[in-house]
Amino acid sequence: MTLRFSAPRGIGGVMIPPPDKSITHRALLLAAQASGVSRIANPLATGDCLSTRACLRALGVGVEDDPRARAWLVTGRGLHGLVEPAEVLDAQNSGTTIRLFCGLLAGRQMHAVLSGDASLRARPMLRVVEPLRRMGARIEGRAGGGLAPLALLAGSGTLKALRYDLPVPSAQVKSALLLAALRADGESSLGGALDSRDHTERLLGFLGLSLGRTDGRLRIVPPSSLPAFELEVPGDPSSAAFFLAAALVSGRDLEVSGCGLNPSRLGFVRVLSRMGARLEVLAEGERGGEPVGRLRLRPGALEGTTVEAEEVPALIDEIPLVAVLGAFARGRTVVRGAGELKHKESDRLQAIGRLLSAVGGGVELAGDDFAVEGPQALGGGVVDSGGDHRIAMAAAALAAGIPQGVEVRGFEAAAVSFPDFLATYRALGGRAE
Ligand code: S3P
Repeated sequence: MTLRFSAPRGIGGVMIPPPDKSITHRALLLAAQASGVSRIANPLATGDCLSTRACLRALGVGVEDDPRARAWLVTGRGLHGLVEPAEVLDAQNSGTTIRLFCGLLAGRQMHAVLSGDASLRARPMLRVVEPLRRMGARIEGRAGGGLAPLALLAGSGTLKALRYDLPVPSAQVKSALLLAALRADGESSLGGALDSRDHTERLLGFLGLSLGRTDGRLRIVPPSSLPAFELEVPGDPSSAAFFLAAALVSGRDLEVSGCGLNPSRLGFVRVLSRMGARLEVLAEGERGGEPVGRLRLRPGALEGTTVEAEEVPALIDEIPLVAVLGAFARGRTVVRGAGELKHKESDRLQAIGRLLSAVGGGVELAGDDFAVEGPQALGGGVVDSGGDHRIAMAAAALAAGIPQGVEVRGFEAAAVSFPDFLATYRALGGRAE
């Protein structure tokens, strides 16, 4: 699908972001292992999360629509009750699905094969396979287990407790190991690069598990069971981010309500404030251990900033937008230590370069770092999403600041995380035709 995006009167107003993708995945995975029926209200019923739902159904988990509301009812099978899938579990485009399922299924008394689309089959899996092997799981795959399809061979049903230091700040790896640790033979502890999004820790805490964080290590003792629960999924701040950026480059106010405000996800909000945006974060409550509330943005003159490597995990999915804003900001915007972007749904460092070149701007790429010198003289252009949802939507946000607009090819990729993106873009004053 090719669409031309523009916003002659800017992008602004009030929006509710789609449900959080990361939290929907985790709620499904924990509900699947709970004892009883859980109710997940406001789930992200699209792309990646539907992959997780379909894979869970193949493991014998009941996931039904609640006829009374936009909610899923999940009939859990307990910690040890999943059944062997008779088919390949297809994670499609979803890195979170395949990596978390490695943790969910490792060492069980069943054979399971995990695969996905061409993008997913090219993404690194050893980061999760290697520590799971230390727990006793037998996992085979292409490139020595580094690439899907991955075959998880039948085990004894229990895993060895793990003591492991994460080399990469990845929430997918951390969560996969926490899921595996639920079935270990004793306390596991994780150290190293732990400062990625902490939804799994919060949700397990909400279910009554006490996850200790002592001496910089996260400790988890396997429970005998998990209780069924009710959760209303908050809005996804990473989806709201596209509209915050679009409002900023087009000089309009924007209010985001019903948005998750977990600090491990708000790195972008902190960077925007440093760049000169006036942003209020208004916490209004908590859902499933997650703070929820409003973001209020008033635009300001943008200035360049430096995002250091330690900050990157808290805005890993918003880095393309930092590059977009850098092109409108006065001075130099620098991002350091963003090498993980090479391993997303596409190589997002290269994609950022192509995005700005397509509209007459540019990015200086140097290894894992990049810099954008602004403000740049941008004109209309054509951008290919490369099948990457966040690149498609970053291009639409960029278009809001360019009078000639931007044509985006392959925009259908956006549905992976933001099914109503077009309706939201139009409702907030933009054009997509
Ligand atoms: C996610 C973690 C991040 C992020 C992805 C969702 C998650 O990936 O980019 O969109 O739900 O755990 P990494 O764990 O690879 O950094």
